Amino acid sequence: MATLQITDLHVSVDTEDGPKEILKGVSLTINSGETHAIMGPNGSGKSTLAYSVAGHPKYTVTSGSITLDGEDVLAMSVDERARAGLFLAMQYPVEVPGVTVSNFLRTAKTAIDGEAPKVRHWVKDVRSTMTDLRMDSSFAERNVNEGFSGGEKKRHEILQMELLQPKFAVLDETDSGLDVDALRVVSEGVNRAKDKTDAGIVLITHYTRILRYIQPQHVHVFVDGHIAEEGGPELADRLESEGYDRFTQTGEPAATTGA
Ligand SMILES: Nc1ncnc2c1ncn2[C@@H]1O[C@H](COP(=O)(O)OP(=O)(O)OP(=O)(O)O)[C@@H](O)[C@H]1O
Ligand SMILES: [Mg+2]
Repeated sequence: MATLQITDLHVSVDTEDGPKEILKGVSLTINSGETHAIMGPNGSGKSTLAYSVAGHPKYTVTSGSITLDGEDVLAMSVDERARAGLFLAMQYPVEVPGVTVSNFLRTAKTAIDGEAPKVRHWVKDVRSTMTDLRMDSSFAERNVNEGFSGGEKKRHEILQMELLQPKFAVLDETDSGLDVDALRVVSEGVNRAKDKTDAGIVLITHYTRILRYIQPQHVHVFVDGHIAEEGGPELADRLESEGYDRFTQTGEPAATTGA
């Protein structure tokens, strides 16, 4: 069993007006096989936590620690973190012009395993995983995320997760923009990947819909850069019906997506 431990994490981002503190003391322990949902209003720092675990250079950890089985994750480069078994499915996956999905996956797999996958097995794995995720095989020859629809980008993130088999995966709004069928297909992909390696999952979401497919044991409420409340799955239902008003000091409704 593996443990990802985040302790009293403070993170700043560089802005034109100088560094701005976004995470203000986040502590979270995730063990193999556990699913933790993180919910919270827009701008509360959920993606910042995801990027900080992955090692995005724009975010500076000013204090606190992240360890994976006692190893200092913050001392690792981005690719060392990936090799150690950490995976991030981004809220806004980036386009990689000139690199095909097929090449990208193979390069990532080789880098993470330290050796190239055996061609025959690999091609079969990629094909069958794409079929499971209802991705047409033509995607393999397209450039990563270039011209992909929102839902196609999310499927591609989970395709990576299934093939790379991480120990811990942070899924940042993997459910946003998915139609009902895609939500089920993508969730099944996450559950397959989770079962294969007994991975620990951090699922960042605004909606309880995905939690019916990927069931969390723990739910954490993020407000203004820290965890304001923790509970079991019932907390997610309560948040969806009540919103976040009771967590905001002013009693004002939390920021919305502007819909
Ligand atoms: N590069 C940056 N410059 C200035 N502010 C930033 C930067 N990156 C993040 N922030 C701010 O940090 C706060 C937290 O952002 P973050 O993306 O972590 O929120 P979130 O909880 O993921 O929100 P959402 O639910 O909308 O995805 C926001 O107020 C955001 O504007
Ligand atoms: Mg976000």
